[in-house]
Amino acid sequence: MDKFVITGGNALQGEIPTNGSKNSALPALAAALLTDEPVTLHRIPKVRDIRTMQRLLIDIGSQVEVDGETVRLHTPRIVSPEAPYELVKTMRASSLVLGPLVARSGRARVSLPGGCAIGARPINLHIFGLEQLGARINQAYGYIEAEAPGGLRGATVQFERITVTGTEDLLMAAVLAKGETVLHNAAREPEVVDLADLLIAMGARIEGAGTSTITIQGVEKLRGAEHTIIPDRIEAGTFLIAGAITGGDVTVTRCEPAHLEALVSKLQQSGVVVTQPDACTLRAKSGGLHSVDMTTEEFPGFATDLQAQYMALMTQAEGIAIIVETIFENRFMHAQELARMGANIRLEGRQAIVAGKRDLTGAGVIASDLRASASLVLAALVAKGETVIDRVYHIDRGYEKIETKLAQAGAQIRRVE
Ligand code: EPZ
Repeated sequence: MDKFVITGGNALQGEIPTNGSKNSALPALAAALLTDEPVTLHRIPKVRDIRTMQRLLIDIGSQVEVDGETVRLHTPRIVSPEAPYELVKTMRASSLVLGPLVARSGRARVSLPGGCAIGARPINLHIFGLEQLGARINQAYGYIEAEAPGGLRGATVQFERITVTGTEDLLMAAVLAKGETVLHNAAREPEVVDLADLLIAMGARIEGAGTSTITIQGVEKLRGAEHTIIPDRIEAGTFLIAGAITGGDVTVTRCEPAHLEALVSKLQQSGVVVTQPDACTLRAKSGGLHSVDMTTEEFPGFATDLQAQYMALMTQAEGIAIIVETIFENRFMHAQELARMGANIRLEGRQAIVAGKRDLTGAGVIASDLRASASLVLAALVAKGETVIDRVYHIDRGYEKIETKLAQAGAQIRRVE
């Protein structure tokens, strides 16, 4: 298992480019199942979750050609409408094939995801939505079997709570359903809008993506399309925090500033000078940091996927910051590891109270999930001495060459096998 060895103390300087969004690329790859024509996707990041999704699609019957950041998918027919436990257990987003498979072939068999490091993360809302669209669902032997032999039919779906991949799954199911589907309390994340843009390019009729109500008029068939994935806002946000936490001056290029407003606002309130040199660039120049409370919310609120990184930042801010996690019930695993490095963090249920500014020191720490690992990398960049982060396969799920990008900006970080 690979480890990162990081020696802290260098202020990061210079440009760091953003890759395409992992969480946008995953549903886009699944959407290619909806047509028998080729779909070409640009700016697909080279991360482990994407490779897992490609493996899954190949098993289902897709031909997948990868050429740099471009992936060409062609699924003349569905060979096996199944997402096996072996893949679902390593990546919960595998459940994104449920909607497209039922829509295209009238049948899907998808393993139920088990527990997860950040919360229970059930997929009951995906199932509920598909039932509204007329699918018959049976759960047995750890699998969900969905059937709609006569095809899905449009319906009104009122989500009990906002779910990102649930909204995406239902969107992909509804585009081929007969008649109109209305999704209420839909997720407004940019990744949902990006998926809707791809589906529209494939011939789907969708209105309202990016708002809480999405209306879909089903069509009989979708065609092939070419689409470029949006920039990864979480990766970009992680690099802005890397600049801020090290007292550096980092310019994040190829990003979408409109997707980062909640983070930028918190950075500015805490004393970081954030400017936008051009339409797809943000620069974070750090002054003295002071604590600012933060509560995670669905988009356009502060992303839960940046909460761990923000907590690392607050360990270096003067004062006390209260961080409230509202999306996942167990997403504070990084707090104990940060504490091992000298952070002063008290956990009270869904609330973390971070007292700064503390001098951190290098230590051996363990990455527990993707974003928790990113927060440990950030903390290590300012810690005195050497930090060894174990289980960096978590970070490889969602960050492409993070060590190379950070090293180019002056970080002392290396991967050891
Ligand atoms: C997506 O996960 C992202 N993953 C996550 O990114 C992200 O943290 C999350 O949205 C929230 O923004 C992808 O896009 C692939 P949810 P998702 O359904 O869709 C509950 C990362 O680090 N819920 O919006 O699985 C759920 O338990 C990650 O890149 C139900 O109760 O999240 C959670 O508390 C990890 N029933 C809340 O809703 C359901 O059927 C929001 O989850 C579905 C969800």
